Amino acid sequence: RSTAAVIPAAGRGVRLGPGAPKALRTLGGIPMLVHAVRAMSASRAVSLVVVVAPPDDVAGVRTLLDEYPAPERTEVVVVAGGATRQESVRLGLEALPDTVTTVLVHDAARPLVPVDTVDAVIEAVRDGGAPAVVPAVPLADTVKEVEPHEDGAPEPVLGTPARSRLRAVQTPQGFDRETLVRAHAEVTGEVTDDAGMVERLGVRVVAVPGHEEAFKVTRPLDLVLAEAVLARRRV
Ligand code: CTP
Ligand code: MG
Repeated sequence: RSTAAVIPAAGRGVRLGPGAPKALRTLGGIPMLVHAVRAMSASRAVSLVVVVAPPDDVAGVRTLLDEYPAPERTEVVVVAGGATRQESVRLGLEALPDTVTTVLVHDAARPLVPVDTVDAVIEAVRDGGAPAVVPAVPLADTVKEVEPHEDGAPEPVLGTPARSRLRAVQTPQGFDRETLVRAHAEVTGEVTDDAGMVERLGVRVVAVPGHEEAFKVTRPLDLVLAEAVLARRRV
C-alpha cells in the first residue's frame, strides 16, 4: 500500500507564449517541473513520482531531473506523454507498479503547492471518505455562463450561478488508484480534470480546502506572481 504522484508535464504552454515547454521554464532559476517534483516528494507519504514528459524530450527531462535529485525515499520515473493532458495522465498511470493504491495527479504547472495541501489530499483519500479528493478554493470573481463566440463578438449571458456554491479546483487531486484507472479507461470526451472523469463514473468526489499558492501558471502574468511568491518564501 503506497502513494504515487503522476505529474503531467507534456504540454507546450501555448498560453504562456513562445519559448521552452512550460514545465521547463524556470522560476527562481529552477525549472517549474523540478519545483513540482519537490512539492510532491516533500510529502513523506509519496514514495514514487512519475513525470510525464514531452514525447520528444524524455531523455532531456530525465537528465534534468538527475541534476536535482529528490530525497532518497522518493523514486522518480520519466515516461513519454501524449497529445492531450488526459492521454498524458493515462500514460503516467500505466507506469505505476502494482503496490500503489493511492494516486495523486499534479500539474507541473502548479509548482508552488504547499506540502500541507498535498498531505491533506492524501489523508482524505486514505481515510476512505471518498475515492476522489480535490483541493478547491472559493472564487473572487462572479462567474457567468455565456453562449461562446470565438471572434470577440458580444456573447449572450445565459445565467449566473451563485458564487458561494462555486469552487476553483486545483491539483494535486487524489484518488483510489483503481477508480482513477477505470475512469481513464471508460470515460471518453473532453473533461478538463481527472476528478471530472471520476464524476462521470457516478463515483463520489469531495473537495477539501486548497491553497492560493497552488495556482496554475498559465499566462505570462502568472510567472510574475510565481516569482514573487518564491521570493517571499526565501526571505
Ligand atoms: N499536459 C500534458 N500533456 C498534454 C497537455 C498538457 O501533460 N498533452 C500537462 C501540462 O504540461 C501541465 C498540465 O497538463 O502541467 C496542465 O495543463 P495546462 O496548464 O493547460 O498546460 P499546457 O497544456 O502546457 O498549456 P496551454 O494549454 O497553454 O498550451
Ligand atoms: Mg493545456
